[in-house]
Amino acid sequence: MSLSPDLIRTAAVAVPRYTSYPTAPHFSAAVTPQEYAGWLMDLPEKSRLSLYMHVPFCDTLCWFCGCNTKITRQYGPVGAYLDAMIKEIALVGTLVPSDSTVHHIHWGGGSPTLLTPEDIDRLAAATREAFRLAPGHDFAIEVDPRGLDEARMDALARNGLTRVSIGVQDFDPEVQQAINRIQSFEETKAIVDGFRARGIRSLNIDALYGLPYQTLERLLSTLDQVVALAPDRIALFGYAHVPWMKRHQSMINEESLPDVVARHEQAEAAASHLVAHGYERIGIDHFARSGDSLAVAAREGTLRRNFQGYTVDGAEALIGLGASSIGALPQGYVQNQTATARYIWAVEQGKIATEKGLALSDEDRLRRWVIERLMCDLAFSRDALASAGFSTSQCAAMAAEAAAILAEDSHGFVEETPDGFRITDRGRPFLRTVAARFDAYLPANKARHSLAV
Ligand SMILES: C[S@@+](CC[C@H](N)C(=O)[O-])C[C@H]1O[C@@H](n2cnc3c(N)ncnc32)[C@H](O)[C@@H]1O
Ligand code: SF4
Repeated sequence: MSLSPDLIRTAAVAVPRYTSYPTAPHFSAAVTPQEYAGWLMDLPEKSRLSLYMHVPFCDTLCWFCGCNTKITRQYGPVGAYLDAMIKEIALVGTLVPSDSTVHHIHWGGGSPTLLTPEDIDRLAAATREAFRLAPGHDFAIEVDPRGLDEARMDALARNGLTRVSIGVQDFDPEVQQAINRIQSFEETKAIVDGFRARGIRSLNIDALYGLPYQTLERLLSTLDQVVALAPDRIALFGYAHVPWMKRHQSMINEESLPDVVARHEQAEAAASHLVAHGYERIGIDHFARSGDSLAVAAREGTLRRNFQGYTVDGAEALIGLGASSIGALPQGYVQNQTATARYIWAVEQGKIATEKGLALSDEDRLRRWVIERLMCDLAFSRDALASAGFSTSQCAAMAAEAAAILAEDSHGFVEETPDGFRITDRGRPFLRTVAARFDAYLPANKARHSLAV
């Protein structure tokens, strides 16, 4: 399956990761707080909801970080932010249909694990008060294991935590120094053991390739340590170096970064390594044990993609809470104020904190469906498209675009199937590049993205 360096360089053009379609750079102020409130009130009765709550604070800055977060040494701003988020939760809870139920809760960041045990209780209680939680609902959190204490793990467990996603990135000391994230295997293992001892069975670990001073050997050795922790899922993301958007990334010496050919080699070797250790490859960057719900969904064609990446969450509406969080409703996408001060100000006025969004057109829905299925199933299927309820002319338009992709493929990235095409093993690293062929916004898109590999 070897690809020439020239081909890798040509194929790995910068394209979006398609955690949504249309992608966030196309959101605009055309979606107002009033419009979003209307969308919430118009949700169908008995809607299944998913809640994403964003905590944009960390106590130290990792230089690779691409997340929406702020460094704070004092807890004061975090407590004040939480007061606002609790108000927002109460307000949004009054707008959704009263018989809707929440099936997934995700606390992301930043580092929601820096909340005090009292604030963990407060946030969880506010959620229970404002929404009807389905019995057995999923409650996941992104964990920065550094310095996490027993009291916080206890607080999360007593509030019904079911899933943890632990940030590792890389265990090599030189790489850790270059990204300003010092984290030992031992302290990570203590946190994994701590959550398991509290009955949390579902565990994901995040690791990165393409980091400064990372070599194939160092990456595989990190992955051996990750595998030793026996997570159910592993997310292996390619480091997105976008210093024009995240200025602190310029702390990373660009000369120490693996080039696109080395990144490709790292991603593929890492994938083979994880597969050899019993993980199934899911989409572009996830791995899961065969019995894990993500692997089951991938096999059954029910995998979904949202802002957190690959998921089994099939809720009709994903509601974003907290600064910068993005929601996905049947009517379209909404994003809250990104700056925490503006977010807090809006909520304290008793307002919804929407900053921007995008109302979906019929064509957006069509292309969104095609891109999501391609990112999840690694295939385009005319039959599946037709049974998803799109019109004959819409299906014909997508089939024609799919046929053009097949006809123009000179690299063996796609192969014909009875009703469309599938991505080959050779083409898998370039899945985003193939998906981008269905993106009607891309030619006009001025946003700069990270490398596809
Ligand atoms: C918001 S962080 C939450 C976890 C927690 N704050 C931590 O770092 O342990 C989620 C994940 O995003 C990934 N990530 C952050 N910056 C990235 C970047 N520039 N490129 C690719 N992945 C990135 C990391 O793997 C990280 O674990
Ligand atoms: S990677 Fe995680 S801990 Fe590090 S700065 Fe970003 S959000 Fe905070």
